Amino acid sequence: MSSEASSAWGEVDAYIADRLIGADADLDAALAANAAAGLPAIDVSPPQGKLLHLLARSIGAKRILEVGALGGYSTIWLARALPEGGRLVTLELEQKHADVAAANLARAGLASRVEIRVGAALDTLPKLAAEAAGPFDLAFIDADKPNNANYFAWALMLARPGSLIIVDNVVREGSVLAGTDAHAAGARALFEAIAAEPRVTATAIQTVGSKGWDGFAIAIVNG
Ligand code: SAH
Ligand code: DHB
Ligand code: MG
Repeated sequence: MSSEASSAWGEVDAYIADRLIGADADLDAALAANAAAGLPAIDVSPPQGKLLHLLARSIGAKRILEVGALGGYSTIWLARALPEGGRLVTLELEQKHADVAAANLARAGLASRVEIRVGAALDTLPKLAAEAAGPFDLAFIDADKPNNANYFAWALMLARPGSLIIVDNVVREGSVLAGTDAHAAGARALFEAIAAEPRVTATAIQTVGSKGWDGFAIAIVNG
């Protein structure tokens, strides 16, 4: 990717956000709190966050599962799509991230709809299943990329026909094709798992923007 392309992508993202999203006190405060706490600025972009929100609303999601909360920026977008009585469970490894997310969600008036579970998601997902916490209408997977295929399998177990499963960062500057790091291998393992899974219908969409060149995988659980 050339730096010119990268800066143009960012400028267009800023234009889209200016026209279609606008200033948002709670989201802006969340990003400021994340930065103040030293969290990495790897949240979904504003247009991506709003896409998650639109997808959740379009299916009338009442229960949402997120894997990887960071400071809760994507969590706020998703939780805002919930109707009265809707619930979101987000799984986060780092206590510090969870604490920042909890404060951001409380400021946004979403604390009563969102539960943050701290721990490695491969430990907390089986607990959710044991509690019969599902089915979730939408799952957003955005944590450690080497586990993407595992998280996809859990999201499928916790889903129902018609549920959406969305996975972030599946392209990573094209490294999905030939990258040798664990993230690229994780992205490929995810594509293999989805390709071999007859219970879903799926695609992936490449994206450019303020976060560079990346993509989302989107799967719907078949009826
Ligand atoms: N979804 C967030 C960004 C998440 S960044 C947003 O768009 O706003 C990835 C997060 O996954 C980090 O907070 C990281 O601590 C968390 N994470 C990493 N490994 C994890 C694991 N094994 N289980 C749960 N969360 C994990
Ligand atoms: C990065 C971006 C992400 O969306 C993510 O979930 C993790 C890391 C990154 O740009 O490094
Ligand atoms: Mg991500």
